[in-house]
Amino acid sequence: MVNKIPYFEYSKKKIYYEINESKSDGTIIFIHGSGEYSFVWEPQLKNLDMDMDLIAIDLPSHGKSDKFEKLDLNIYVEVVQKLIEELEIKKAVLCGHSLGGAVAQQFYFDHPERVVGLILCSTGAKLRVLPVILENTLHNFNTFLNNVPVGAFYRKTKEEIKRAYVEEVSKIEPQVVHDDFKICDNFDVMDKIDSINVPCLVLVGNADKLTPVKYSKFFDDTIENSTLKVIEDAGHSLMLEKPDHVNKAIKNFVQKKIKNF
Ligand code: COA
Repeated sequence: MVNKIPYFEYSKKKIYYEINESKSDGTIIFIHGSGEYSFVWEPQLKNLDMDMDLIAIDLPSHGKSDKFEKLDLNIYVEVVQKLIEELEIKKAVLCGHSLGGAVAQQFYFDHPERVVGLILCSTGAKLRVLPVILENTLHNFNTFLNNVPVGAFYRKTKEEIKRAYVEEVSKIEPQVVHDDFKICDNFDVMDKIDSINVPCLVLVGNADKLTPVKYSKFFDDTIENSTLKVIEDAGHSLMLEKPDHVNKAIKNFVQKKIKNF
């Protein structure tokens, strides 16, 4: 059962998160991607059968969190840090999807003492964005929404999954979606990845068009303690397209690789 817990405050604004609490130690914090909110992690919060706290945050201006005037990577990182402080979490596994993966990487570089492991899901150490995506999120949001399924999913993924996803993304303000993609476009930590020295699970769909398998192979080749899992018949929205595979991979990784929270 997913419990709804109220907000915590960051810069006098409310930040929302969902939590599936356990009685044991150990926390995984899930961070969504561009134009998304915590809904993308519902299959993990509901069905990931692990005796750990599972938390999915709504980044500023996303989901139920308050609207912020200005968005940047540093604010996203600091909001995750505030969540960790507020919930008195000593160390967590951070699991980020796409932009959320950029937040997780930057969080690790800024606050390594808080991170016991990383799960990099459909993401990259550099996330250049197609100009048409930046253009459409700013000037043609309906065209952007119409094209979302092509980029975000494997073509054979069930239409109902694609439809439900687009419906949720359409609730996020176009400017916010644009800002998210700008943050991705400016993100480049390729030369810092070899300094990651916590266990790392790298997850990617074999048919991911937005963050191709090559990006994940780079993580796997560069991070000493990494495990790469390429999931067949999945696109960029792995955790919704293949939730059972993703949950199994996360469970294996945490049980085998994460020792002390
Ligand atoms: N990991 C490993 N390699 C990467 C990488 C990553 N995260 N990001 C880029 N590269 C590689 C590219 O494969 C390319 O290699 P190549 O020269 O051997 O072909 C090189 O670095 C340069 O790529 P990039 O910096 O992306 O510039 P570009 O001008 O070649 O391409 C885009 C720009 C936008 C066309 C391209 O990045 C793209 O197709 N992006 C995916 C689509 C998208 O919009 N994704 C959204 C992500 S949130």
